[in-house]
Amino acid sequence: MCGIVGYVGHRDCADVLMNGLSKLEYRGYDSAGIAVFENGEITVAKTKGRLADLENKMKEIGKPHGHAGIGHTRWATHGEPSDVNSHPHSGERVTIVHNGIIENYKKLKEFLIGQGRVFKSATDTEVVAQMLDYYYDGNPVEAIVKTMHELEGSFALGIVFQDFTDTIFAIRKESPLIVGVGENESFIASDVPAILKYTRNYYLLEPNEIAVLSPYCTKIYDLHYKKIDKELKTADWDMESAEKGGYEHYMLKEIHEQPTAIKTTITPRIVNGLPSLEECGITLDEMKNFNQIFVVACGTAMHAGIVGKYVIEKLAKVPVIVDIASEFRYRDPIVTKDDLVIIISQSGETADSLAAMRLAKSLGAKTLAIVNVKGSSIAREADMLIYTHAGPEIAVASTKAYMVQIAVMYLFAFKLAYAKGMIDKEECKRLTELLQQTPNLIETILEDKTYEQYVAASLVTADSLLYIGRGLDYALSMEGSLKLKEISYIHSESYAAGELKHGTISLISEGTPVIAVATQSKLIEKTVSNIKEVKARGAKVTMVCRESFGDDSDIADYCIKVPDIDDILMPMLAVVPLQLVAYYASVLRGNDVDKPRNLAKSVTVE
Ligand code: F6R
Repeated sequence: MCGIVGYVGHRDCADVLMNGLSKLEYRGYDSAGIAVFENGEITVAKTKGRLADLENKMKEIGKPHGHAGIGHTRWATHGEPSDVNSHPHSGERVTIVHNGIIENYKKLKEFLIGQGRVFKSATDTEVVAQMLDYYYDGNPVEAIVKTMHELEGSFALGIVFQDFTDTIFAIRKESPLIVGVGENESFIASDVPAILKYTRNYYLLEPNEIAVLSPYCTKIYDLHYKKIDKELKTADWDMESAEKGGYEHYMLKEIHEQPTAIKTTITPRIVNGLPSLEECGITLDEMKNFNQIFVVACGTAMHAGIVGKYVIEKLAKVPVIVDIASEFRYRDPIVTKDDLVIIISQSGETADSLAAMRLAKSLGAKTLAIVNVKGSSIAREADMLIYTHAGPEIAVASTKAYMVQIAVMYLFAFKLAYAKGMIDKEECKRLTELLQQTPNLIETILEDKTYEQYVAASLVTADSLLYIGRGLDYALSMEGSLKLKEISYIHSESYAAGELKHGTISLISEGTPVIAVATQSKLIEKTVSNIKEVKARGAKVTMVCRESFGDDSDIADYCIKVPDIDDILMPMLAVVPLQLVAYYASVLRGNDVDKPRNLAKSVTVE
């Protein structure tokens, strides 16, 4: 969590840092700050709140001018969001920004206090600043190496030393960090979009690598001060795709990007009408012989895994266990070398998912990562890898990443079912062809969004609501519910429709909104019975169903119809109105849609 940037070069440093931070605010926005060398002195400007608050503050106190510095946008872990806990943090001659958590900070703090050092903040980060200062004896790299040996936890650090006014230093362990290389200028950043305005060339810093950046040269060392030659990468994301492109919010833009994202993700993986996943390094023999499959992920990515479970079990008849990563890693899961563990993650940096993957590997299982961010930690460490090609997802609430995650789960399920002889070639081709039709069908859903706005308006004053469904509709209702609650702040729960009468139906009273996902034709009668049960108790029901459903007038209060496709693929279409209802509910409540409170896009702490 948190976003860090650094710059050294010919431009006005504060401007570059602020621009970079604006692309990283999705990582946290509890506070913001920059430190810039101004007339040879490190000048810090920082404040609780967002970048806009920092802009305002700098209008009052003056913006520091200079050509080298570091910046930070925070998602608070140690110490409440406040001015004093905002980054950068300083020792006497060192100032740093930090993304991650120092697990042994208490012990280190006690030691440093014993050395007579005085702390201002409640953060773990200040301990690192003081520790660097403690070890600093005129040689910055030596101080960094000595400090590294003391630190436990995950971190990426941007560092400036008072004596080196045209140099910035960086190091990472676990938390992501890239080093951007421009013409007579260098950058550090937690993520690529932060540097795209200036350069597309960057190095991926590996754990325990130290970067030393000056305007004319970038050097990377290991902990033994040995220079490392690294491959310079070129970002294939352009600025345009990282910006809002005329939409009011990133979330709406990203909802609209879903048809393209699906095409970009599946097209290269379909050969002669059949799914082809050879690129990920999984052989047909291996595929056939897995005993069981685990899908491990967090939040929305985990919901994509639940859709995958239904589809894989139905078509390929292989048992699938879906786990929340933070549970998986501590519940002593019974995983063996005959199992496949699939990790799904947009960012590829989610701490719990990464740890779960490492655990699965240590138990001998094969791991397959389905990841959006190239070169991310999960992508690099998995045995096998399938990239989703959603492009940068900026809105905290995931939409297009979820869409392509399920698209990949479909390809995988079709391939596995065919490899195991559970479906024949013709059926595999038919399903693959249907999957290819989904982008156009989603375009038609997106042509007219007025009904979703209308439904959103009907529930904005609700305190709480329920999402219900059966089978794949239940899997989808979980995602609908999460989307709504995270951005509208209306409490909602998803429930298996058939389970309501075992307790939860007592929550229904006059006017309680219920969103019933009812797209599965084999279960439709049962779901309609459940809708009638809640309606009889006063619920105001919105039903999401197929266009072919027919007359809905005596069943639901509102009905959102989506185009028809095979039952198994309905989640690809039905999720879109659920995303839109959540989006409009958030807009109508005046919330910050792209940056909902208390959340961050990339959760790199457990
Ligand atoms: C919700 C959302 C989160 C993420 C979760 C995992 O809209 O985006 O629930 O899905 O934090 O993140 P990744 O996919 O980056 O591992």
